[in-house]
Amino acid sequence: MKIAVAGTGYVGLVTGVALANAGHHVTCVDVDEHKIQLMKQGISPIYEPDLEPLMQKNKERLSYTTDYASAYQDAQAIFVGVGTPEKKDGSANLKYVYTVIDQIAQTLDTDCVVVIKSTVPIGTNDKIEKRLTQQITARRSKLGLSPIRVEIASNPEFLSQGTAVKDTLHASRIVIGVESDWARDRMKEVYQEFHQPFVFTDRRSAEMVKYASNDFLALKISYINEIANLCELLDANIEDVAKGMGLDPRIGNRFLKAGIGYGGSCFPKDTKALHWVSNYYEKELKTVKAAIEVNDIQKMKLLKKSHKYYDSLEGLKVAVLGLTFKPDTDDLREAPSLINIPIMLDDGARIFAWDPIGIPNFKKYYPDEITYCSSIEETLKDADICFIFTEWAQIRDFDILRYKELMTHPIILDGRNCYPSHNFKNTGIIYDSVGRRTVQ
Ligand code: UDX
Repeated sequence: MKIAVAGTGYVGLVTGVALANAGHHVTCVDVDEHKIQLMKQGISPIYEPDLEPLMQKNKERLSYTTDYASAYQDAQAIFVGVGTPEKKDGSANLKYVYTVIDQIAQTLDTDCVVVIKSTVPIGTNDKIEKRLTQQITARRSKLGLSPIRVEIASNPEFLSQGTAVKDTLHASRIVIGVESDWARDRMKEVYQEFHQPFVFTDRRSAEMVKYASNDFLALKISYINEIANLCELLDANIEDVAKGMGLDPRIGNRFLKAGIGYGGSCFPKDTKALHWVSNYYEKELKTVKAAIEVNDIQKMKLLKKSHKYYDSLEGLKVAVLGLTFKPDTDDLREAPSLINIPIMLDDGARIFAWDPIGIPNFKKYYPDEITYCSSIEETLKDADICFIFTEWAQIRDFDILRYKELMTHPIILDGRNCYPSHNFKNTGIIYDSVGRRTVQ
């Protein structure tokens, strides 16, 4: 099939490459000429393991362009994977989606299913279809052209950053919301070579699956974080508690890792968006509201803990390990580092930070206020306290005795439970993590 994909972020590009890998001819469209040039050279504009080899492997069936008209005109399916960022009030901003829809309306010349991958509020796809078909009908009748069949399918995306390729090629499920047999058959053709479980449903239910899944996972994290906080007060160990819970298949062992809260491009945005919608319909989702509140508090957890050791961070050398919202990505969206570091700077801390790939992005926010280090050792040298915000493998594999050797005051506040706490017994290092007894 001839397929176009609008947007070459995580969702769009990975989808396009996976569809090319399944044998389709795919044109990826983006407004950013620089990104297009990179992709034409086989370079991925996003940091995502396994993506570049797959782009190379399928280069015969992949093309990249800023010329949306040529991509959309004769496409049998157009995937829309542009961003739906959060507005100030928590609702989703749909301007990028509507821009693409209007471009499709101006250019499409053949029967087509337009597949919305972007996370959009429930009911949006119905509105999109109305807007698109009205514009297409008006344009074609004005030009004296015969009608074409265009329908919207909702096909939410469940990939995680860092494992996006694996998550797409081996998705746990493919959810497709359509309103006709015609659209259903065309989507079956698109996904002919995919052998995961399919869930065919109406469009609104498909839209809801996305929000309900993400918010449930966010809720699970906030729940385990609250239990962790209680474990600290009651001298229990959250790792053991999570293990004991997770072996129950009804609970499952994933997304039970306590820490300093969830970040990234989805959970914070999607919890707020669903909460906003529920308020709009005067049926507030109290559990989702609680997940958001718990997460906001959790992100401040290490700073609060630091007051056990120092009244203020003023003048102290503070080592920060990890800047990104999770490992294996350079993404800083909603990362705990972005909330904590400005407060530390206000307190007068001297910050030395390390991250294997997040530094160039962090420099866009703080070009001069922080000393960026090229190794963990350099970061820890003479530090008075260390904050761990991301569980990078390099941090987890780091010899813990080096903290003692390098730091002036070896105090580690670990927001990601990177080490077994008993390893710190009798080391002279204060190791204060989440939901576990402080060891020294
Ligand atoms: C998430 C969803 O997993 C994915 O299905 C959806 O399409 C997009 O949002 P992503 O944001 O890439 O993916 O990362 P994920 O691995 O889910 O982690 C999100 C945040 O939750 C991270 O900040 C992570 O540190 C945190 N997290 C995750 C925990 O604190 N504990 C856990 O047990 C799991």
